[in-house]
Amino acid sequence: MTQRTLVILKPDAVRRGLVGNILARYEAKGLAIAALEHRTIDGEMADRHYAEHVERDFYPPLRTFVTSGPLVVAVLEGDEAIEVVRGLNGATDGRKAAPGTIRGDLSMSNRENLVHGSDSPESAEREIGIWFPNL
Ligand code: CMP
Repeated sequence: MTQRTLVILKPDAVRRGLVGNILARYEAKGLAIAALEHRTIDGEMADRHYAEHVERDFYPPLRTFVTSGPLVVAVLEGDEAIEVVRGLNGATDGRKAAPGTIRGDLSMSNRENLVHGSDSPESAEREIGIWFPNL
């Protein structure tokens, strides 16, 4: 089934000059870019995106991190795009993510893990609505 998913290349990806490398992986896999934008967000936007995490202990530093500089946000489209992107992204903790995945190849952190991908069709719809309300 064709799906759309929301992907964020977080500020560490932009700072480290990895945007091209990461986007190339999604494209090479066969996903289409339906929307793509370079953006800097404030804490309120971070709270909306991470609504399910705002009460967690790890959230305050995550909020600081995702608002610390520009990020790149995209909507990717393709067959089973949500699961495919999660597979390409790898496990949350870059130190534990499998080699071959984006985090496994490029991240050594549980927080600064380069990418976000929607975790379900419901999350994808909610997140796309927040970031690209006109899509
Ligand atoms: P993401 O897929 O964007 O979803 C929530 C984010 O919170 C996650 O990627 C990490 O950046 C961050 N995160 C999740 N768990 C932890 C943790 N235990 N410690 C620090 N950051 C975390």
